[in-house]
Amino acid sequence: MTAMEKQKSESPIEGLLEEKRLFKPSDEFRAQANVNDPKIYEEAAKDREAYWAKQAERLHWFKKWDKVLEWDPPFAKWFIGGKLNASYNCVDRHFKSHRRQKPAIIWEGEPGEQRVLTYEDLYYEVNKFSNVLKNLGVKKGDRVTIYMPMVPELAIAVLACARIGAPHSVVFGGFSADSLRERINDCQSKIVVTADGGYRRGNFIPLKDNVDEALKNAPSVEKVVVFQRGEDKKKVNMHKDRDYWWDELMEKAETYCEPEPMDSEDMLFLLYTSGTTGKPKGIVHTTGGYMTGVTTTTYMIFDIKEDDIYWCTADIGWITGHSYVVYGPLSNGATVVMYEGGPDYPDKDRFWRIVEKYRVTIFYTAPTAIRSFMRWGIEYPRRCDLSSLRLLGTVGEPINPEAWIWFHKYIGNEKCPIVDTWWQTETGSILISPLPGIVATKPGSATIPIPGIEADVVDNYGNPVEPGQGGYLVIKSPWPSMLRTIYGDEKRYIDTYWSKYKNMYFPGDGAKKDEDGYFWLLGRVDDVINVSGHRIGTMEVESALVDHPSVAESAVIGKSHDIKGQCIVAFVTLKEGVKGTPELENELKLHVGKKIGAIAKPEKIYFTAELPKTRSGKIMRRLLRDIAEGRILGDTTTLADPTVIERIKSQYTDKE
Ligand code: WTA
Repeated sequence: MTAMEKQKSESPIEGLLEEKRLFKPSDEFRAQANVNDPKIYEEAAKDREAYWAKQAERLHWFKKWDKVLEWDPPFAKWFIGGKLNASYNCVDRHFKSHRRQKPAIIWEGEPGEQRVLTYEDLYYEVNKFSNVLKNLGVKKGDRVTIYMPMVPELAIAVLACARIGAPHSVVFGGFSADSLRERINDCQSKIVVTADGGYRRGNFIPLKDNVDEALKNAPSVEKVVVFQRGEDKKKVNMHKDRDYWWDELMEKAETYCEPEPMDSEDMLFLLYTSGTTGKPKGIVHTTGGYMTGVTTTTYMIFDIKEDDIYWCTADIGWITGHSYVVYGPLSNGATVVMYEGGPDYPDKDRFWRIVEKYRVTIFYTAPTAIRSFMRWGIEYPRRCDLSSLRLLGTVGEPINPEAWIWFHKYIGNEKCPIVDTWWQTETGSILISPLPGIVATKPGSATIPIPGIEADVVDNYGNPVEPGQGGYLVIKSPWPSMLRTIYGDEKRYIDTYWSKYKNMYFPGDGAKKDEDGYFWLLGRVDDVINVSGHRIGTMEVESALVDHPSVAESAVIGKSHDIKGQCIVAFVTLKEGVKGTPELENELKLHVGKKIGAIAKPEKIYFTAELPKTRSGKIMRRLLRDIAEGRILGDTTTLADPTVIERIKSQYTDKE
């Protein structure tokens, strides 16, 4: 085998680069951009520590750090000895400045209500809620679980936790009671902050019921704070001596709470994300490095200016919402738009109505949303005045060039730069993205690592691959907002991210670099499925399926999907005597939805007599993927019984 062939066979994803279009920043955009001197890349590369130290100056520090970085692979400490507070940076310093009366959050509820919170309002709300938490006995270091809809109180709860030094663990409101319980138990929260529910596509989703269900088996929780979002408090079942109404506690709370001077390396939050095993990982972020990362990237990549109206459509329950709805923009003193509900309610123009109404200038969303907009048709954006927009962004999954061009043409009116931003829950902030005033974009490429980040594409052995060859993305040196560990599981931290290569961070993504050094992200190379930009572990779905009394065994894979990017497909063997009917397929889908959350529901379930396994009993998902995608079967020589896969294939390929 030649070296070239060897490399080819080891590349996780095949295919050639075809996209050649190049979009240069306009002179007009370049001239006004926050960052427009390309020298920044070289300067940062020359001395990364000095570069990041300079960026850390964007924050307000109670005490400056003594040392920039301590790198004891795979453990990094940044800005050692520094003291700061994230809520002080996001709220107090603007409250004390000319921004006091500037809107911090412009919120729109799905039914149509509108609220504007100035930095002054936010300051008082955050201070009061910090005192509420303290009065309930929350101390520095205690974990607080937050399970709320997209209302301003979610951001307030997050910032209040940061203020008193209690790490928050926000659980996305779409997760089930079981998922919530698992996350509460993993970090042993004493407090849960929730709401009676929230509006989504015209329905009121009852969150408090899920909390009650979760708490049946979560003994660490002592108190629950309930924000009233619905119409009737009386409809909500409150447990005596455990559950308290948000507004009643706030009424009694003092209006000032001293921000806790946090050590740079004190935990700011943990956020659970799916991995390759059934158990979600609690990703740990610390204060100084994380705040430096999100503040810098928001300034440079979103080009935030004093009069921008910035809208990131992500839910705060995901990392994108943490970094680019709450911490990044507020630390920069920006005006943030926050919307509670669905993009197609009451009609498919809802997002564009919001852009028009608030004169949104910067709009950051996911490729899956763009593909839905494309399918719905251009009449919806055409109905609205989108002329306020000046910069667009995408995140969460690779964007296909068609969707990129559509976004550019119909939303950006061919004048807005698009920043395709690659990053992860673990990276804390964006690592690969154009700086819109400097880097020319290519549809489908996240372009190049931002200044201060050293990334590459390597083969199985860690050697850089030739341009155009597939390989694995790696980050070669530490960065301030990197995760510090997995909560309570240091071994898993080392195994997952730092074992494949020595001293290089392995994110789990396939990638290619082209001749210009541009990165093309090619999707996950592990057992994680990216559904509509959300990570779901195959094992999580498999465990939910085998939890059903009819299921003997299951194998779950990701299959490409026009809108969602990927969808979940399950192969299931049933227990003796159970028949694989369409009714059962439906029941199993609902069961997974109930166990994990609606986002984890399989699109399709195939019943099969057996699953393809190696002689050592490992399920060969790769072959199931081939069947689901309608591809020719890959290498089957390691199978214990090669006829199994042939049978599944003949059973299902005709029906697709
Ligand atoms: C994928 C979301 C291609 C990737 C911020 C990564 C992307 C995972 C992009 C992280 C992008 C995110 N292009 N792929 N611009 N952004 N991804 O933790 O596979 O929810 O590993 O963080 O999403 O998902 P997470």
